[in-house]
Amino acid sequence: MWTRWALSSRHISCRVRWYSSTPTSTHVEIQGKRYPTDHLTNITPSVISKIPLQLHTQPGHPLSTLRSLIESHFPDFSRHSAFSPLVSPFKNFDELSFPLDHPGRSLADSYYVNKDLMLRTHTSAHEVEVFRNGDTQWLLTADVYRRDEIDASHYPVFHQVEGAKIFDANSSSMREVELDNERLLRHLSSSNIVIEDVKHISETNPVQPGHDPRHAEIITQNLKLSLNGLMLLLFGSAAGATPSNPLRVRWIEAYFPFTSPSFEVEVFFRGKWLEILGCGVIIQATLDTASIPNKLGWAFGLGLERIAMILFSIPDIRLFWSTDERFLSQFEQGKLTTFKPYSKYPSCFKDVSFWIPPGQSLHENDFCDLVRDVAGDLVEDVKKIDNFVHPKTNKTSQCFRINYRSMDRSLSNEEVNDIQSRVVGQLGHQFGVEIR
Ligand code: PHE
Repeated sequence: MWTRWALSSRHISCRVRWYSSTPTSTHVEIQGKRYPTDHLTNITPSVISKIPLQLHTQPGHPLSTLRSLIESHFPDFSRHSAFSPLVSPFKNFDELSFPLDHPGRSLADSYYVNKDLMLRTHTSAHEVEVFRNGDTQWLLTADVYRRDEIDASHYPVFHQVEGAKIFDANSSSMREVELDNERLLRHLSSSNIVIEDVKHISETNPVQPGHDPRHAEIITQNLKLSLNGLMLLLFGSAAGATPSNPLRVRWIEAYFPFTSPSFEVEVFFRGKWLEILGCGVIIQATLDTASIPNKLGWAFGLGLERIAMILFSIPDIRLFWSTDERFLSQFEQGKLTTFKPYSKYPSCFKDVSFWIPPGQSLHENDFCDLVRDVAGDLVEDVKKIDNFVHPKTNKTSQCFRINYRSMDRSLSNEEVNDIQSRVVGQLGHQFGVEIR
């Protein structure tokens, strides 16, 4: 899934001070605490300002309702939703067996406070910690952060639910899981759902060396049955599933450094297959690190925004962060209501072209973070529309088109021109490019 995944903010004072994004600044302040910066620091003021908001715990917020709905499918699981997003890269990656060259570690993809601290990029970052505390079946909901492009379905902060369950690795416990599997299967076979499955274990999606293949099969089946049930709960009625038009769910082999076998789940909705979650049998190293002997189990991680956009008909991911009463008042905790857009205000395109000196580079995500810092949620999308290298000077020319649109009001020309000139000024200042 790496490729690609109420109390409103008005009620929370988010005191965030930014010392400067230049490499010479020595500290950054996050929720009242100062952290030293270093050569890796790339966290931005706009992203820092989102940390206190915790949308998934705001009563009435669509993300909170969706979290509760998912929790209701796992009634015996313990629940966590207050883990800090600041984690060590060790916890986010190494503890989960990520190789050193995994792209997720790069500065282009992740936000670093400094070399020892980053914003978690996924809720799996807490697996070891939660297992170590003795939880054997649990759900953890949290904000996660990834540097990305700007459009209606990408935002640098989004929310995930992680779920996991571990079992004793012996035949009597496996017998119990088999009985549970039979029960879950009976429920699904009498429901309006069609599942396109793949083999539980294959050459390309292998059982782990230390696992009894029969145990791994039973656990994988339990994972699949539990999640098929969740898909039915989430999408069955939204998709209007009937015996003649059942909900379609498909399982695909996947790869994650911390599960094997691994899978992705897709749901067919309004004519398209949507990627919903990643999951698999927990790699034994994770449980060993957590000092959990003689167990095996499954884990999954699912992104909330994409599902909530479907279930509540929310057309733009920025709306989740809206503090406009016309948005917030439409939702009530525990209810899946259809969002009624209050208006679509006019958009305004602005282009910016610049030369990048030879030997220097500017990642699209650097450009997007800069625009977010200046324009906040007034930017709807950003597209690179031109890129060429001058044959004589070897300089690279790039052109980006920024689409400005507020979700709450009409923007005046003057205001957009002012934002654009601040973007252009900051671009020269921060990256030393030559504006054309
Ligand atoms: N953490 C993975 C992601 O964000 C999802 C995942 C969770 C996969 C648990 C397997 C097991 O892409």
